[in-house]
Amino acid sequence: MLFIGIDLGTSAVKLLLMDQDGKIHKIVSREYPIYFPHPGWSEQRPQDWFAQTIDGIKELIADCDRTQVKGISFGGQMHGLVVLDEKDNVIRPAILWNDGRTEKETNYLNEVIGKDKLSKYTANIAFAGFTAPKILWMRENEPEKFGKIQKVMLPKDYLAYCLSGAFCTDYSDASGMLLLDVEHRCWSKEMLDLCGITERQLPTLYESYDVVGTMKSEIAQELGLLSDTKIIAGAGDNAAAAVGTGTVGNGRCNLSLGTSGTIFISSKEFRVDEHNALHSFDHADGYYHLMGCMLSAASCNKWWMDEILKTTTYQEEQANITRLGENSVFYLPYLMGERSPHNDPKARATFIGMTMDTTREDMTLAVLEGVAFGLRDSLEVARKLGIPIQRSKICGGGAKSPLWRKIIANVMNLSLDIIESEEGPGYGAAMLAAVGCGIFKDVEDAADKLVKVIDTVEPDPVLVDKYEERYQQFKQIYPALKEVFQQI
Ligand code: XUL
Repeated sequence: MLFIGIDLGTSAVKLLLMDQDGKIHKIVSREYPIYFPHPGWSEQRPQDWFAQTIDGIKELIADCDRTQVKGISFGGQMHGLVVLDEKDNVIRPAILWNDGRTEKETNYLNEVIGKDKLSKYTANIAFAGFTAPKILWMRENEPEKFGKIQKVMLPKDYLAYCLSGAFCTDYSDASGMLLLDVEHRCWSKEMLDLCGITERQLPTLYESYDVVGTMKSEIAQELGLLSDTKIIAGAGDNAAAAVGTGTVGNGRCNLSLGTSGTIFISSKEFRVDEHNALHSFDHADGYYHLMGCMLSAASCNKWWMDEILKTTTYQEEQANITRLGENSVFYLPYLMGERSPHNDPKARATFIGMTMDTTREDMTLAVLEGVAFGLRDSLEVARKLGIPIQRSKICGGGAKSPLWRKIIANVMNLSLDIIESEEGPGYGAAMLAAVGCGIFKDVEDAADKLVKVIDTVEPDPVLVDKYEERYQQFKQIYPALKEVFQQI
């Protein structure tokens, strides 16, 4: 039996074909544009996601026995606002997770409605990228379009809707809308009222491993798949990545170094930190998780390599970097503002500390270190909550760099377990499809049987000490520049 995992990312959709023993048969990827119509805004066309997904599936299954494809599931970029009218047309481009236009709405929710109430209704406070502030933004700025909204959904749910006709979402992804009562796994009536929408406009809620429908017959025919191919709800990309790295059940940790950078802590118990600095969301295994999210992680290195150094040889750029923990150049990774822990859409990226003998390598190293320090900021919040984290899995494009893994292990003082498949969200999505098709008892069972640790990067006490000192310096830079960022 075969399962398709679809990772609907920000730079591309990555599709993966997995068999019931967890073996990956093929991986295919298709890119689509991202639009930045104003500084700090970020949009994509849902139609591009679907077209590229269909194209990708065709290549993915070109050489396999298609009758063996039993289920398809998703890990999707979270928080994006997708809105459809009564004819199921997309009303406007999707407003993405890293879009910072909703500062006014976010402040209104946090300051006027109040963080306490938001936390009581949803277990979270408002962040600029979350879906509810975007709905308020549309109501205020595009009232005509707002009036046409029949369906509100998240990015991966648009794919499920197009493939199966099921208007559905899952609890992990819905958690990031600021419309869900995370603890009780239902829509928050108070939040819907606040945003001026009704439950009829929202998708039906499912567990990530639930079957939501089967493939539309015309699409099955076009793809050469059976029309009883099951569509499984799937998860937000971080929860899907956590499944894919075996970060399920109690007290496990995963770091993801994709366009965004996240620290994800699984928990069987529902919990909220006092200041809501970490997101408190449902998990794809049926339980909960805490998460910190930085908006620019591997994308900082991509920007530095592609746009500034104008090079494609990332490995070569890192090859000459040997002296860790001694860099006097610091980099603040806030290219799109920052979510965790600063919640500041106006924060900006910065290099600081250069002298006449600063080298290209120092600057590249500063970028890699700046992202690690940003992740450490969220780890500190978790540690303050008394969560003992000593080891973590790591996944995402940036995690392929041995140098970056070493920096992260030492900056965070964590043992980093490297797993056989680094395809976090896509692999997790395929696992969810397999659980939905009854191959495994539950998500934990699938993780126990399929996820294999093949190596561990251990922190080195000497480097940990050096980086501790650097981190204490890094921590002072954002507060010192905060007011300046408001002005520029
Ligand atoms: C998580 C978040 C990002 C996106 C990236 O809260 O906003 O990790 O899901 O796709």
